[in-house]
Amino acid sequence: MLRWPLVRALRFDVFGGPEVLKVEDVETPSPHAGQVLVQIHAGGLNFADTERRRGLYSSDTPLPDTSGFEGAGVVFALGQGVDEAWLKRRVAFIAPRAHAEFCVVPVGKLIPLPDSVDFITGAAFPVQALTAWHVLHTLGHVKAKETVLVHSAAGGVGQLLVQLAQEAGARVIGSVSRDAKQERTRADAVLTRGPGFVERLRELAPDGVDLLLEGIGAEVAGEALQCLRPLGRWVTFGTASGPPAPLALEALYEKSISVAAFWLRTDLPTEIAAQAAREIVARVDDGSLQLEITTGPLEDAARAHRRLEGGLTTGKWVLRIQ
Ligand SMILES: NC(=O)c1ccc[n+]([C@@H]2O[C@H](COP(=O)([O-])OP(=O)(O)OC[C@H]3O[C@@H](n4cnc5c(N)ncnc54)[C@H](OP(=O)(O)O)[C@@H]3O)[C@@H](O)[C@H]2O)c1
Repeated sequence: MLRWPLVRALRFDVFGGPEVLKVEDVETPSPHAGQVLVQIHAGGLNFADTERRRGLYSSDTPLPDTSGFEGAGVVFALGQGVDEAWLKRRVAFIAPRAHAEFCVVPVGKLIPLPDSVDFITGAAFPVQALTAWHVLHTLGHVKAKETVLVHSAAGGVGQLLVQLAQEAGARVIGSVSRDAKQERTRADAVLTRGPGFVERLRELAPDGVDLLLEGIGAEVAGEALQCLRPLGRWVTFGTASGPPAPLALEALYEKSISVAAFWLRTDLPTEIAAQAAREIVARVDDGSLQLEITTGPLEDAARAHRRLEGGLTTGKWVLRIQ
């Protein structure tokens, strides 16, 4: 029997602006077979949370609903068939409805947290760092000495892409939407997007870049092919500025361009997913992957959403829950 029949959760009854978010009590969920109940200490905020709140994310959002896709905490109860070794373990996880004091998580979505990694950090990396890893390695096949263009290089995924690409030996050109963000990325060169972007990029990479990584969509998709060199690769992983215009496949022939799209919810082969998690946790643990984290209480989530979708944040925003 749980000591907490009701738990605090960040809820929305209707789709809309940040003002629809409210903290209220809901019934504690129960773990079913193959699931655990996690007592959450911190929840990571992602751009997808703002899309889900607006009703733009996917069709599987029932209303009313609880926000959140990732968190970190302690395994509190086990569903049927789950190995008892999970009980009381410190974990990070990816699962919907994570912005609450308790969340049900399928055991396959748990990431054991080393003791050296605190819960705030644990809630900051799962979605963005695993996305960055797969975009860069699983799909981007980055190689040493290549030139990589990372759009929104001061954002959550962007900052991690920059570090992982540099670790792989690539030269990284980052883009940001405003000059003030330039100092919030470690890219080797930084450009503010806007008029003349392609020409300014060509001054840094006269033939174009080998690899273009972007989660912006409409704003940058129209110029993407001009940014790439022959045999270049373009990996798209989001549409923060809205969906891009349809891409004509014939447009790819001239420079023999490859295009790939990534979504973390894809049912990836187990070994590929597990290896990415191992690689990321090792780098978070030894400090070689640095996270810029801003924290705020669950009650302040509407302000965090407003800043995130206004393009005003850099790095990661984590909600403190316990
Ligand atoms: N495919 C996946 O599984 C997956 C997983 C995680 C994230 N994503 C996507 O990756 C992108 C980045 O996510 P994030 O979590 O890193 O969020 P984030 O930290 O908020 O970064 C998003 C960046 O996008 C830019 N941006 C925000 N609103 C914009 C707008 N209206 N128009 C143009 N640019 C805008 C901003 O950078 P600038 O101001 O510098 O441009 C911002 O830093 C999002 O599209 C997100 O949905 C996808």
